[in-house]
Amino acid sequence: MTDDESETGLARTPPMGWNSWNAHSCEVTATDIRDAADALVETGLREAGYEYVVVDDCWMAEETDEGGRLSADPEDFPNGVSALGDYVHDRGLKFGLYSSAGSHTCQGYPASLGRERTHAEQFADWGVDYLKYDNCGNHRGRDAVSRYAAMGDALAAVDRDIVYSICEWGQSGSWRWGRNVGGHCWRVADDAVAKWQTSGEEFGLGIADIVDHVAALGIAPAQAPGGWNDPDMLQVGNGPDSAQSQHEPTDIHRPLTDAENRTHFAFWCLLGAPLMIGTDLTDISADLLDLLTNEHLLAIDRDPLGLQGTPDRRGATQEVWSKRLHDGAAVALWNRGEEPTDIRVDIDETAVPTAGDRYTVRDCWSGEQWETCGDLSARVDPRETAVFRVSPR
Ligand code: GLA
Repeated sequence: MTDDESETGLARTPPMGWNSWNAHSCEVTATDIRDAADALVETGLREAGYEYVVVDDCWMAEETDEGGRLSADPEDFPNGVSALGDYVHDRGLKFGLYSSAGSHTCQGYPASLGRERTHAEQFADWGVDYLKYDNCGNHRGRDAVSRYAAMGDALAAVDRDIVYSICEWGQSGSWRWGRNVGGHCWRVADDAVAKWQTSGEEFGLGIADIVDHVAALGIAPAQAPGGWNDPDMLQVGNGPDSAQSQHEPTDIHRPLTDAENRTHFAFWCLLGAPLMIGTDLTDISADLLDLLTNEHLLAIDRDPLGLQGTPDRRGATQEVWSKRLHDGAAVALWNRGEEPTDIRVDIDETAVPTAGDRYTVRDCWSGEQWETCGDLSARVDPRETAVFRVSPR
């Protein structure tokens, strides 16, 4: 890749959009996808940058044709994939589809291992702009790099720009090779569920679990424009009624609270993560829309340096994280305890470039702005996160 290409390639900022899995699970239909596309436009989410509409697992018919080609489930997607892609494109959005680097998808539908060229050509013909490529099915003895490289090569060979979203759950370190096989993002963990924390026996990881997991991995250097560590799709707005919560064996008794939703979203932005909304957009609340379109947080997620935020201080009740930005840094003060608490940090402890002796601070929740000589502090409610954008004067 030349320098020019690397500056103009796909996913220069983390991909943003909506994915069907958390909201609809394996019951997804073409109507759900059209409704989501309409809702992205009507709610202003498209304008805020959410552009990909991704159909996750279960869109395909149970059998391929004699050439191994995929087709859409005739009942749930009666007009086929191409017409659905047109519908999405007609609304100024981009269209995404799902397959797996194995014999079958996670829900047992036919997938792409050994048929990568054929399927990549189908995806391109159908107008697909984004492929989420899962890790289920029989791998036929092949390692992850070979399986994911086969689809990366096939996508590179078609005459269409397709974002390649590697969903290998980080099992064999996809952050180490994801970019080399053509990937634009790579999952770094098991599935996120609509819960703060899960116990060992439950399916999936809660929001706090994923933050812990990312901190422990220490893979910030793997991320840069064009290739993103992916902590999984957003569970913002979800709870026991979400289809994924009902589909998977996780005990979920209440929706994520407002504080949990805010901390979840703030951390995904601080990490510079892909932002794939996973809630039903047809009855989303005004508060959740405000959260998902918070311009200060989105600017942190999409900062041109493309760095991943990292922890400066960890602890059972207080954590400080920061992310270097092109003009300063974002600093997050997270109360992970159960009581309101004062969190204080000197910016020397964080990623803020300490060139001067005065800094402009913006509170990313209230939009308020002030100056500091180096001290940052906030009273933070349980499970809330204060987020500041700090720039040297
Ligand atoms: C895996 C993935 C999920 C989702 C499901 C679909 O669990 O990690 O994100 O795509 O498969 O079956």
